[in-house]
Amino acid sequence: MRIGMIGTGYVGLVTGSCFSEMGNDVWCVDVDAAKIDQLRQGKIPIYEPSLEAIVKRNVEQKRLHFSTELKEALDASLFVFIAVGTPPDSFGAADLRYVFDVARSIGEQMESYKIIVAKSTIPVGTTLQIKEIIQRALAKRGRDDLDFDVAFCPEFLKEGSAVEDFMKPDRIVIGTENNRTSEFLKELFAPFTMRENRLLSMSIPSAELTKYASNCMLATRISFMNELARFCEQVDADIDEIRHGMGSDSRIGSSFLYAGIGYGGSCFPKDVKALIHSGRQAGMPFSLLESVEAINQKQRRWFFEKIKVYYGGDIRGKVFALWGLSFKPNTDDVREAPALDLIPWLIEEGAYVRAYDPVAKDNAEKELIQVAACLEASHEERLIFCIDNYEALCDADALLVLTEWSLFRRPDFDKIKSCLKNPVIFDGRNQYSPTYMHERGFIYQAVGRRLDP
Ligand SMILES: NC(=O)c1ccc[n+]([C@@H]2O[C@H](COP(=O)([O-])OP(=O)(O)OC[C@H]3O[C@@H](n4cnc5c(N)ncnc54)[C@H](O)[C@@H]3O)[C@@H](O)[C@H]2O)c1
Repeated sequence: MRIGMIGTGYVGLVTGSCFSEMGNDVWCVDVDAAKIDQLRQGKIPIYEPSLEAIVKRNVEQKRLHFSTELKEALDASLFVFIAVGTPPDSFGAADLRYVFDVARSIGEQMESYKIIVAKSTIPVGTTLQIKEIIQRALAKRGRDDLDFDVAFCPEFLKEGSAVEDFMKPDRIVIGTENNRTSEFLKELFAPFTMRENRLLSMSIPSAELTKYASNCMLATRISFMNELARFCEQVDADIDEIRHGMGSDSRIGSSFLYAGIGYGGSCFPKDVKALIHSGRQAGMPFSLLESVEAINQKQRRWFFEKIKVYYGGDIRGKVFALWGLSFKPNTDDVREAPALDLIPWLIEEGAYVRAYDPVAKDNAEKELIQVAACLEASHEERLIFCIDNYEALCDADALLVLTEWSLFRRPDFDKIKSCLKNPVIFDGRNQYSPTYMHERGFIYQAVGRRLDP
């Protein structure tokens, strides 16, 4: 089948590449000419395990094409996926301007029947707005004779395991207006559902809301555990023991029950905000989600205050080794990553940071340059990016663990102790056993943990 993928970011690149891996011809389009140039040279602009090999193979076999020209993809394809960003606007609503720009361009340039599939995460009603925009653009050029269908097909891939998630999905949701479209889409997705039929066909509004509902549910679990973890510290309970106790109930399950320093990334924060906004607009505020969001914002600050309290409220001149810049392991994505809040807070209060991340350093540096510009002139000495996690520890007063990269799970604790000025670890991801750390002579502060009696 022939597919156009408009927007070649995390979702578009993974989706387009995986479709081509299944034998489809795919045209990936992006307005970012530098990105398309890089991809044409076989260079992957993001870090995503096993993606590079798939891109290389399918480019070589001429099934995967990259272009800045929408028209090229439109002329070549039956399915046209929209996978551009929908970041939050200043009110927390999903900013739909990129989606609508693409819809307008499709209406201005299409010449034959197309199935337009929105893959970006968009509020209820947006797919039908896309349809209206295309209809208006067609009418403007006197081509309202051209037939097309719209559909919404949310993406559930997770950064860090995106290829695996796309190739072996838990479920594929398709929202359509008619049988013709759902039959076409069922055929397109058939190779991904061969072992077990995991395809759920529903109305477009239900599909649009399913995506938000899923992310908001997961965010709710995380905020619940984070608030519970803070309570644990008040009552001398241990959040990890509670996690096991709760998670073994099959009605609850064990996923997304980890306390930490709050959720981040490009999806949970913005999708929670967007659903809150949609609820308010509909005159039906989501009070639960408003709390989920507030708890998440508080969690990072709480962790920061915990560090400050340890130093008697004054961290001036202290040096912190910081492990983990990405919002989660196995990705270079730093959107809404805890490190991007923590680093400016630490520097603003006079501390020094020696940061290390296996892959996210460049992205973090780009983001922090803007923050650093607002800080005092000496910021450059205050933030150093290290090339090795142990190098980051040199002469530091304490280690902060902010991302649970597997590299940090079983580090050489003797080496940590010998590099740090003092054996102090603030662990925002609950990676180590408090009792073990205590026995090794560390002062170990985590999130809602206690020493074994
Ligand atoms: N990243 C994730 O893990 C994830 C998972 C599920 C769903 N989503 C959703 O998918 C959508 C895309 O997310 P992403 O993380 O891939 O975003 P991204 O920012 O990585 O990529 C978006 C791409 O679209 C391009 N673009 C913008 N306007 C364009 C236009 N007019 N024509 C062609 N390209 C254009 C941008 O240059 C960029 O490369 C969002 O709605 C997001 O919520 C993301």
